[in-house]
Amino acid sequence: MKQRTSTLLAVAALTAAFAAHAQQPAKKTAPPAKAAAPAKSAITEEFEKFREVLEEDNPAELFEAKGEDIWKNRKGPDGGSMAQCDLGLGAGVVKGAYVQMPRWFADAGQVMDAERRVVHCMMKYLGYKEADIRKQPFSNVNKTPDHVSVITYVAAQSRNMKIAAPQKHPKEKEAYNVGKEIFAFRGGPYDFSCATCHGADGMRIRTQDLPNLRKPDQAIRAYQGWPGYRMTGGFMLTQQWRMNDCFRQQRFPEPSYLSDSVTALLAYMTVTANGQVYKGPGIKR
Ligand code: HEC
Repeated sequence: MKQRTSTLLAVAALTAAFAAHAQQPAKKTAPPAKAAAPAKSAITEEFEKFREVLEEDNPAELFEAKGEDIWKNRKGPDGGSMAQCDLGLGAGVVKGAYVQMPRWFADAGQVMDAERRVVHCMMKYLGYKEADIRKQPFSNVNKTPDHVSVITYVAAQSRNMKIAAPQKHPKEKEAYNVGKEIFAFRGGPYDFSCATCHGADGMRIRTQDLPNLRKPDQAIRAYQGWPGYRMTGGFMLTQQWRMNDCFRQQRFPEPSYLSDSVTALLAYMTVTANGQVYKGPGIKR
C-alpha cells in the first residue's frame, strides 16, 4: 500500500507537469498538419518514458480490483451474478474475452463491443438500470462508474493476449464494413472524417501524435492502454469515451452511449489490429 500511495503521489505530481500539454477542449479549426518533423514529438517521448515507469505499478489496478470485486461478489436483486454473464467464451469466462470482442451475441441479437456487453450483463444480472448508466456513462473527477471498473477488470484478464476479434458471423462482417465506412465518412462544419486525422502516417495535433488507424501496427493504439488511467484527473477512461471524444474532435454530434455506430467503429479498428498483443489497461495523459 505504501508503494501504491507513492505511485499515486507521483502520478499527481506528473499530472501537474502534463496538465499544460493535455488535450484541450476543441478550439482548433484547422485539420492536423502533416508533420515533416521526426516521428514523435519530444513531449510524447518524455511522456512515454514516464508511462513505462508508472505502468509497472499502474493505478488502473485499483479500478481493476474494484471491478473484480463486483464481478465475483455482487448479487442482483433477484440473486443474479456476473457468473452468468457470457462474454463470448461461455458463462462466467473472463480470461481472453476482451480481445475477442466486438462479436455477435445471439442472446442479444447484436454485435457488441466489450463495454456494451459488460453493461448489458450488469443490467441483466446485477439489476443496474439503463437510465442510471446513461446519466453518467464515463468517468470524471468525481466518479468512476462501476461499469468502468468492471470493464477495467475484464480488460486486464486479456493482458498479453493477441487481439482476435472474430469475423465469422455475417453481422460481424457487416459491423466491420459499416465501421470502415464511418471511418471514411466526411461531414460536419469542417468536412472532417476520422481519416482526416487518423488516415495517414505522421499526423500530429500540437504535441499529440495521431495514429494511422488504417494500419495494423498503429490500429493497436485504439486498444493499447485502454481502458486508461487519466493522469490529468485520476480516473479511468474507456474506448467508448475515446470514440465520443473523437466525434467531438470531428465536430460531429456525440453518439448516444453504446450505439451501433461506435461498436462498428471499434469492430473496424479491432479487426485491423488483429494479431497484435494487448498489454492491458494503461495510462493516458
Ligand atoms: C480533428 C482531428 C480528429 C478527428 C477528426 C478524429 N480524431 Fe481521434 N484523436 C484525435 C486526437 C487529438 C487524439 C488524442 C491523441 C493522444 O492522446 O495522443 C485522438 C485519439 C484517438 C484514438 C486513441 C489513440 C491512442 O493512442 O490512444 C482513437 C482510437 C481515435 N482517436 C479514433 C478516432 C475515430 C474512430 C475517429 C472518427 C470518429 C476520430 N478518431 C476522429 C484527433 C482526431
